[in-house]
Amino acid sequence: MKKIHTDAFENNSIRVPFVVPNIEPSDKYAIENALKSNLLTDGPILKEFEKAFSKFTGSKYAIGVSNATSALHLSLKALGIEKGDEVIIPNITFVATANAVLYTGATPVLADVNPDDLNISIKSIQENINKKTKAILPVHFAGKSCDMLKIKKLSKQNNLKIIEDCAHAIGTNFNKTHVGNFGQTGCFSFYPTKNLTTFEGGMVITNSKKIASKIRNMRNHGITKSLKERFSKGYPWDFDMSELGYNYRLDEIRSSLGLNQLKRLQKMNKLRQNACAYYNSQLNDVDGIELYIDPQLKNNSCHLYVIKIKKNYDLNRNDLFRKLLKKGIRTSVHYKPLNKFNFYKSKLKTYSSLSSSNNLYSKILSLPLFPQITKHELDLVINTIKKFQS
Ligand SMILES: Cc1ncc(COP(=O)(O)O)c(C=O)c1O
Repeated sequence: MKKIHTDAFENNSIRVPFVVPNIEPSDKYAIENALKSNLLTDGPILKEFEKAFSKFTGSKYAIGVSNATSALHLSLKALGIEKGDEVIIPNITFVATANAVLYTGATPVLADVNPDDLNISIKSIQENINKKTKAILPVHFAGKSCDMLKIKKLSKQNNLKIIEDCAHAIGTNFNKTHVGNFGQTGCFSFYPTKNLTTFEGGMVITNSKKIASKIRNMRNHGITKSLKERFSKGYPWDFDMSELGYNYRLDEIRSSLGLNQLKRLQKMNKLRQNACAYYNSQLNDVDGIELYIDPQLKNNSCHLYVIKIKKNYDLNRNDLFRKLLKKGIRTSVHYKPLNKFNFYKSKLKTYSSLSSSNNLYSKILSLPLFPQITKHELDLVINTIKKFQS
């Protein structure tokens, strides 16, 4: 077989990598272009990227940051979440969601997920609300939006803030509105595996001027002036700090790459949607495999393609993972539930059953998915999965 996409870990026996970042010659040009400036951070390209991102998502403000973890941390800080507070998060998510809450001193409280889409369960959110609850932090898992109308209703009834973890969901819409606009903030990741990459990077969107200016300030140590302002008037060293902030800036090179990637994001997402539709059509009738088919695929960023291995499949999930790997196909699991981590044992709470997430953990498997995946690569995955089932 002609090898088209190579493995990130340089394993030559890999025929279908799990993910391949979408980097085109124009991205290299964008990076080179940014390098021509002698202002490599806190400059005009960041502003341009923020403007384009807020236009793309339909939000009033966008603030570029170093990654989605810092986006979540700054959002929680800007909303005044602190020690003694509780924030409800799903049990199935990347550790960053919980860690950002822990950075503030508040306690992450685990809610269960829906068995049919792995998004946070509304019933479980309700069961976890108490007097200490200050916010709900839903994750739009794999690119499918959570039911934001129901989450908004719950937040209004209980006077709670919403911070949306949109790390998987650049290009995801719910009721014709881009995700991230339902809560006080929406937090995006530009990590290499994400739908848009700046290698490392992130963005916060918000429709509140007050929250935007607080986050903008806190991403740069709490310093009240930008570099340009400091060097345009008066003494550049004579700046003040309004509060204790962080160095969570997004530099000009990454911003330039992000700006260029954003121009073709819809095209890249469409390719992901096509690949998911093809997986759906070919795996639909395989006994023992359950699919998470989203009827609203065009509103879904299709960040991950997750299947569920049922009892009547000939192999269990771990055996299937190993056998696929032997055939040169990389797969993964998103995610090990947070309640299974030793580190979190004494740090996270829950007031609900987590049976759904715990049951699903041994059954879910994420298949290779990236915009430029070929039909040949998809067929290899599909036919290998079919071959193992008698
Ligand atoms: C659901 C979720 N939240 C947050 C993050 C953190 O993103 P970053 O690596 O940009 O900090 C990730 C990254 O993988 C994620 O998948």
